[in-house]
Amino acid sequence: MTDMKAAITAVGAYVPEYKLTNSILETMVDTNDEWILSRTGIQERRILKDPDKGTSFLAIKAAEDLIAKSGVDPLEIDLVIVATITPDQPVASTSAYVATQIGATNAFSYDMMAACSGFLYGMSTAAAYIESGRYKKILLIGADKMSSIIDYTDRATCIIFGDGAGAVLFEPNFEGYGLQDEIMRSDGGGRAFLRIEAGGSLLPTSHETVENGQHYVSQDGKSVFKHAVNNMADVAEQIVKRNHMSNEDIDWLVPHQANKRIIDATAKRVELPSEKVMVNIHKYGNTTSATLPLCINDYESQLKQGDNLVFAAFGGGFTWGSILLKWAYNS
Ligand code: UT7
Repeated sequence: MTDMKAAITAVGAYVPEYKLTNSILETMVDTNDEWILSRTGIQERRILKDPDKGTSFLAIKAAEDLIAKSGVDPLEIDLVIVATITPDQPVASTSAYVATQIGATNAFSYDMMAACSGFLYGMSTAAAYIESGRYKKILLIGADKMSSIIDYTDRATCIIFGDGAGAVLFEPNFEGYGLQDEIMRSDGGGRAFLRIEAGGSLLPTSHETVENGQHYVSQDGKSVFKHAVNNMADVAEQIVKRNHMSNEDIDWLVPHQANKRIIDATAKRVELPSEKVMVNIHKYGNTTSATLPLCINDYESQLKQGDNLVFAAFGGGFTWGSILLKWAYNS
């Protein structure tokens, strides 16, 4: 009998209907379509316009899509993890609300916060629980309502981010499919470069912090870009090498969608042609915790049992990593 691995056995996703296009952004800040497209690869992002709906709305929709497609019984789900940096509220767990709303009433749940690496870290956590034999069905959701923390007068950030959610189900597999290897990293020295300054214990929200716009995401794009390019490419290359694989053994690169130029640099380092690289940044922008599952969802019909997928992500913290996963099913 092969060792028990943790396989992805179902996928679901949701993006809101409203499209914030580059030409609309041109009317909001001093920018233009040509600049945005050439520097980032983004054409439009989805925005959850309804002010009464938070990240849980996106997460529930993605989970419901997965449940409808796979037929999994929510009562059999053991654990619901929601990776997000935009929880509904700072204190009540978003995942608890999501689990209850989708009928996963036998599950426990928690939120996971690792910025753009949140979903990747969640894959590591979900897989470890499955491999330990402790749980059999884990629903991992990556969801972010980035529009709730973006300053739409700041052209350095508002052109990049969008809202969305994706979900995957992890289950035990005895045929060798599932998570094969991972490299996970973090470096707190990066926290000055990409952050929301206020609203946490270090600088609680006050009239002054709101007046200064410190409740919004701010970033030193150039520094983040440099670190992202080097670190994402490094771990992707390392994971391929240490599993004694060549570029021909890799069927898909599943990169975090922060900037098309970062994606291209990572693909180049592992010597993969563009046909093997999942890209949807042009449609959704950077949806933070949702980029990886949105990619798998968009490409699901092209995935074949036994395909080798290399995931790679980089984000605030800094946090980054790479996962090698053998795909478990044909659609
Ligand atoms: O998921 C992890 C989170 N974030 C990231 O991974 C983001 C990583 N960083 C990036 O993707 C890029 O750094 C950006 C897309 C944010 C910026 O691209 P860049 O090539 O690094 O541009 P830059 O910041 O160096 O700016 C170049 C020029 C500047 O003008 P000058 O000083 O050369 O005259 C900016 O003022 O472009 C200007 N600029 C803009 N122009 C039009 C900056 N933002 C804009 C804009 N539209 N939106």
